Amino acid sequence: MWKLFKGKEYKESNFSIEKNKIPKHIAIIMDGNGRWAEERKLPRTMGHKAGVETLKKIVREASDIGIKYLTAYSFSTENWKRSEEEVSGLMNLLVEFLRRDLKEMHENNIIINTLGDISKLPKPCIDILNESKEMTKNNTGMVLNLALNYGGRQEIVYAVRNIFKDYEDGKISKDIIANLKEEDFSNYIFTKGMPDPDIIIRPSGEQRLSNFMLWQCAYSEFLYNHINWPEFTIEDFHKAIEEYNNRDRRYGGTK
Ligand code: FPP
Repeated sequence: MWKLFKGKEYKESNFSIEKNKIPKHIAIIMDGNGRWAEERKLPRTMGHKAGVETLKKIVREASDIGIKYLTAYSFSTENWKRSEEEVSGLMNLLVEFLRRDLKEMHENNIIINTLGDISKLPKPCIDILNESKEMTKNNTGMVLNLALNYGGRQEIVYAVRNIFKDYEDGKISKDIIANLKEEDFSNYIFTKGMPDPDIIIRPSGEQRLSNFMLWQCAYSEFLYNHINWPEFTIEDFHKAIEEYNNRDRRYGGTK
C-alpha cells in the first residue's frame, strides 16, 4: 500500500490506496455553487468563490495522490446565458485564482491546460491562461484541465471542421477520412493524447452530463452525491475514488 498525504493539511487522514488503483483521469462537474449561495442568502458569485476554494483543495489532493489528469468543468458554452453579473464574476474569479495560485501549482509541478474555445473569453482571462500554460508547460506532474467555454458538442463539431481543414491543407488524405478510426478522431479533440476520464464526479444531486466530455465519457464511471460543490470535502473525493475502485469495469465485455 502506498501511504498518502504528503500535503501538510491532511496528515491526519488514513486514506490509502494501492498504486495501481489510482485513477489516471478524474473529471468533475463542479455543481451546486448557486444553491449553496442561495441557501445562505448570498449572491451566486459568492457560491462560485467558495467553489474555487474547493477546487484548490481538490487540486492539491489529486496531485498529492498521484492522479495524472484532473479536469474541472469551469464554464460551459451554455453558461453565457447567465446574467452578465454572474458571467463577469466567474471570469474575475478565474483571473484571481490563477493570479493567486499559479505559483503554488507551478511549484507543485502541475501543468495548466484548457479545454474549450478560450479565444471567446475576456482578454485578461486569455492572457493569464496563456501565461499559466507557458509557465507550466515543462512540468511533469498532474495536468489540470480547466474546461472553459467548453461544450462536448462544440468539441465534436470543431474536430470535424479541423479534419476538413487538414484535408484541404493536404495534411491528410481522402482515404484517411473515408476510413477514419476512433483513434484518429481522438486526435482532433481537446483532450488529444490524454486518457479518457475514469471517473466523472457530479455533486449537488443532478444526474446529467450537461454537454460535458461527450466523446470521452463512453466508459467513464459516473459518481453522484448530494453535496453542493462548495461543501465537497477531501473525504468526499476519497469516497469517490474508493467507490470507483469497487466498480466492475467491463468495457462492454464480460469478466
Ligand atoms: C455550476 O454551479 C458551476 C458553474 C457553472 C461554474 C463552476 C465554476 C467555479 C467553481 C469557479 C470558476 C472556475 C475557476 C477555474 C476559477 P451552478 O451555478 O449551476 O449551481 P446551481 O445549480 O446550484 O445553481
